[in-house]
Amino acid sequence: MRVNGQVARLGARAEPDSDTVDVDGVGIGVAPSLRYYLLHKPTGVVSTADDPQGRPTVVSLVPSDQRVFPVGRLDLDTEGLLLLTNNGPLTHQLTHPSHGVEKEYMVWVEGSPARGTLRILRQGVELDDGVTAPARVALVAPDLLRLVIHEGRNRQVRRMCEAVGHPVRRLVRIRIGPLSDRKLKPGQWRELTVAEVRELEQAAAAGLCCRRRTGVGRWPPHEPITAAGGNACRS
Ligand code: URA
Repeated sequence: MRVNGQVARLGARAEPDSDTVDVDGVGIGVAPSLRYYLLHKPTGVVSTADDPQGRPTVVSLVPSDQRVFPVGRLDLDTEGLLLLTNNGPLTHQLTHPSHGVEKEYMVWVEGSPARGTLRILRQGVELDDGVTAPARVALVAPDLLRLVIHEGRNRQVRRMCEAVGHPVRRLVRIRIGPLSDRKLKPGQWRELTVAEVRELEQAAAAGLCCRRRTGVGRWPPHEPITAAGGNACRS
């Protein structure tokens, strides 16, 4: 058992309103002061808590009764799901490279990637900070990829696509581990349910995320995307 990420000794105490308690990485109860917001970040909004240039921040789009921070980042010109929380230990787990929580993106690119290009994206792309880990990639439309990665390098999807000759025109994140929500429109947010918080904690602890629910190697992990997202995946 751990309190605030530290292994608890016999007789350790925890403050239910402010401390996080977990057994094998899975939390017990949701402390009332902990906040978990799932935001659909629009383009033009920065993923930091403050911006010296005075641009709108993701933090300014969610309630301010408790100070929350974004878990990872989306580029200024990237849209889609971003988690904001004041749960520091969970943030640390989710952003730690070794935990590898999956992130899924819809990627509109220039041109139409060939089968060989998809293979390179799947196997790993040589970038200036090293080869990327294997990704899951499906071509949804001639210029639209659905891509799942579990690393969180700076501008990784853009750099991967650029490296294989297909610069990104539009990038939307549609899933973070077990979290997705097609109903959330740009600028909208909602609180996570208790069940979602549990799932997220389990995903972060296991570092496997969603594979438990979807089965290793099964693709696509969710139902076919429609309307703006195109049609069913085909690899
Ligand atoms: N990859 C990118 O290139 N940009 C993002 O915002 C997220 C992932």
